[in-house]
Parts: sequence; structure tokens; C-alpha cells
Amino acid sequence: MSVHSQSKLVAVEESHRFMFDCFKAVHVPDDHARAMADLLIAADHRGHFSHGMNRLEMYLNDLAINSTNASAVPEIINETPATAWVDGKNGLGAVVGNYCMDLAIKKAKIVGVGWVCAKRSNHYGIAGWYSKRAMEHGMVGISMTNTSPAMAPTRSKEAALGTNPLAFGAPAKKDKFLLDMATTSVAMGKIEIQRRKGDSLPDGWAQDPEGKQTNDAELAYKTRCLMPLGGLELTIIENQKTDPLKPVLVPGDKEDAIMEAVNQSGGIQYLENQLKCCEELSKRLNVKPMEFIMK
Ligand SMILES: NC(=O)c1ccc[n+]([C@@H]2O[C@H](COP(=O)([O-])OP(=O)(O)OC[C@H]3O[C@@H](n4cnc5c(N)ncnc54)[C@H](O)[C@@H]3O)[C@@H](O)[C@H]2O)c1
Repeated sequence: MSVHSQSKLVAVEESHRFMFDCFKAVHVPDDHARAMADLLIAADHRGHFSHGMNRLEMYLNDLAINSTNASAVPEIINETPATAWVDGKNGLGAVVGNYCMDLAIKKAKIVGVGWVCAKRSNHYGIAGWYSKRAMEHGMVGISMTNTSPAMAPTRSKEAALGTNPLAFGAPAKKDKFLLDMATTSVAMGKIEIQRRKGDSLPDGWAQDPEGKQTNDAELAYKTRCLMPLGGLELTIIENQKTDPLKPVLVPGDKEDAIMEAVNQSGGIQYLENQLKCCEELSKRLNVKPMEFIMK
């Protein structure tokens, strides 16, 4: 673990106490303040500094202008034995997230699976927090949320999709697996942390207002346009012009284009080595060899 040179050590309990007190100071009820402090301290404890103390002020500001309802309690709109749709009533993200995952766990204990979706929630922190809740009951936990647009799809100049994190966790007897990630190359909060440290950004994280990659954390923070996973492919040529032969891509587009090309050409282009293997299989299994399209 690397520790920044200009940092100070705070005990986990003390950091939790401070965050709890801050929520209490803006009139958040005890149990909701605790839910938020538990979420944020878990993020810092796990090294996801982007979503711990770093996010505290944002939540407090949202509460101060009443854009989040501190005391709202979620309600079920519709449910079946295995599913539910919940109204978060514009409550705090951790309150709504915990409610939904706990309901999913309850349902899964009875019918084997629980799938709960919420509307009218707010920023819910690290997605992995909720998967972990299910894992603690010996279950597989999946958690996802959408966010405001902050990601430029491959070859795009502007943000169109969110950082939309997803977490998948599976417990095991001695170990566990917990994937917890933004679907951008990194979470927006990591740009904020680089900015707090006064450090530059690695390649592949963010774009500038012109749609070019930037290593400037301050500019990236202002532009709020992250790059997608595996997204170093930019096509800005000059003066913000893009290559018309290389259109903007979102997941699924590549495969659609390949299917179209297969349909147009009348077949799938296999490698010679693959075909040699099929020839051997046809002999071994006494199956009629494959015929090729001659062009
Ligand atoms: N609530 C929101 O709106 C929101 C939006 C985006 C992200 N987030 C949260 O931000 C946090 C950070 O997201 P991120 O994508 O920047 O995380 P990250 O890139 O630091 O890690 C993503 C995942 O990759 C794994 N990982 C990282 N390096 C690895 C390596 N070398 N080998 C094996 N596994 C490795 C981590 O364990 C983690 O599961 C997450 O907790 C995410 O849920 C929340």
C-alpha cells in the first residue's frame, strides 16, 4: 500500500465517528447517519478512497440544499416472491441500497433468488458494499447503479453514458471473489483524488473538452468526461473532426457490425489453422468435411 507523503493517519473508528457526527450535524436521523458513515468508512478501509471521506462533502451539500431527503424511508411499490420494485423516495443512497439488498437477501432465503430495483435513490457509494451484504449470508451478491453522463463512448468527444458501476461477489469456504468496478476506465472519484494530491493522471483515464486524452487532473475534473473501459481508441483527427469511417462505439456495436459483414459476404472467415483442425475432426469422426464458399 502506498501512502502519500502529505498524509496523516486517522483511526478507522475516529474517521467513522467524524463522518457520523457530520451527518448528525445536518439533521440526519441516527440510523441513516450510521448507514452513511458505515458505507463511507468501508470504502476508505478497502482503499477505494474515491468513495469514502472524499464523497462526504458532496452528500452534506446535497442535504443542505434539500436535494436529498435525509429521513426518507424506502417503500415497496410492487413485489413478487423473488422480485421487488422500490421507491427510494429521494432518500440517502446507503439507506435505499441497504434496504434493497436486505430485501433481496430475505427473498433469496425463501425462494432461492431475490432481485430488487429502486427508483428515486441517490448516490450509493461503492457498489461492492451491497454485494458484500449478500456474501455475509453465504450468497452471491450483484449490485449495479446508473449515474449521470460522465463517460465518452469509444471515439466520442462528449460524455453520453454514466460511470455505471457494477459489483459481483461470491463467497467461498476459505476465500472469496469480489469484483467492484466502474464501467469507465476508473471512477470519477479517482480523478478527484489525483487532483487533491496534485498529481497528474495516467494515460487512458480522461478526455479534455476537445475530446483528446488529458493527463491534467484539474482539466479532467472540470471536463467530467471519462474514457470507457479499454478505451484508449480516440479518433479526433484535427480541429475536433472525427474519422467518418470510424463511428462512435458503445458495447454491442462491434458485434453488430461483424454480423452485418458476415451476412454481406455470405460466410464466416475462419483461420486456416482452425480449418485444419476441422479437417482432422471430420476424418476422426467420419463426418462430411466442410464445404467452402469460393469467391
Ligand atoms: N456510486 C457510484 O456512482 C459509483 C460510480 C463509479 C464507481 N463507483 C465505485 O468506485 C469504486 C472504484 O471503482 P474503480 O473502477 O475505479 O475501481 P478499481 O479500478 O480500483 O478496481 C476495480 C476492480 O478491479 C479489481 N482490481 C484492481 N486492480 C487489480 C489487479 N491488479 N488485479 C486484480 N484485480 C484488480 C479490484 O479489486 C476491483 O474489484 C468502486 O467501489 C465502485 O463501485 C461508484
